Amino acid sequence: MAVIETHDLVKAFGKLRALDGLDLSVEGGQVFGFIGPNGAGKTTTIRTLLGVYKATSGTAEVFGKNAWTDAVSIHEQVAYVPGDVNLWPTMSGGEVIDFFLRLRDGSGAAYAAAQKRREELLKNFELDPTKKCRSYSKGNRQKVALVAALASDVDLYIFDEPTSGLDPLMEKVFQNYVAEIKAAGKTIFLSSHILSEVERLCDNVGIIRKGKLVEHGTLDELRSRWEVKGEALPSLEEVFMKQYGDEIHSDEGDEENEMHKSIFAQYMPKKKAGDR
Ligand SMILES: Nc1ncnc2c1ncn2[C@@H]1O[C@H](COP(=O)(O)OP(=O)(O)OP(=O)(O)O)[C@@H](O)[C@H]1O
Ligand SMILES: [Mg+2]
Repeated sequence: MAVIETHDLVKAFGKLRALDGLDLSVEGGQVFGFIGPNGAGKTTTIRTLLGVYKATSGTAEVFGKNAWTDAVSIHEQVAYVPGDVNLWPTMSGGEVIDFFLRLRDGSGAAYAAAQKRREELLKNFELDPTKKCRSYSKGNRQKVALVAALASDVDLYIFDEPTSGLDPLMEKVFQNYVAEIKAAGKTIFLSSHILSEVERLCDNVGIIRKGKLVEHGTLDELRSRWEVKGEALPSLEEVFMKQYGDEIHSDEGDEENEMHKSIFAQYMPKKKAGDR
């Protein structure tokens, strides 16, 4: 069953269509990588799925429920980590994590289990929970949100660039947890700019461009779709560049841009007339 499903989803901010007919389907039990350049509509998609934004038109469903009207019941089974984590400055990290866990699980058995996971997560992410949130660095604020999300036992985890502030060691810790969650049969929706991370973790990948899904499939499907005969299969980064190479502009005489242009030129698809 699809855990996330959108059809012809449009989210407009005034004249700007941040989502412009997005068709997305994420099956249960998989890690889905959602990639695209700045401003493509990744965060808008996530916020619409979370019921923060109301769709302008089209449908957005999570667990078969309407993302806007059924947001409260959907949230019981969703943990979310935003890209820019803002926390209450005068609370400690531990208090914030506790607050979120209590909101979700009250004080019953599920809360006790979450508390246990919380201790392990704090240790593995090397996070001091006693510090006031205002004193945390960006990476540490992100860890607070990650610990709160990963300590929760839910069916769907939504991460919006969760590792952008983490060092490589912590990125690895995060990746291990994603593998663990997946092994437990949960679904993970991961928006990321770190393509090597997506390559390592994701079963399926969607590429969004100007509010539309332009590529969708398993990593191997994407790579073989852009294969050039006689050459090695392209990496996800190369597939991504092929999608966006034509968006790179160059100023005359700008050496760096010229260099980029020539690099991108190699990746441009060798299309036949009528293709795509
Ligand atoms: N609340 C808002 N009001 C007006 N415009 C918005 C709002 N949120 C997003 N946008 C616009 O919608 C488009 C998509 O933005 P979005 O944040 O979804 O992109 P993104 O793919 O998450 O980018 P990034 O990789 O930089 O995080 C952008 O043009 C952005 O300026
Ligand atoms: Mg974003």
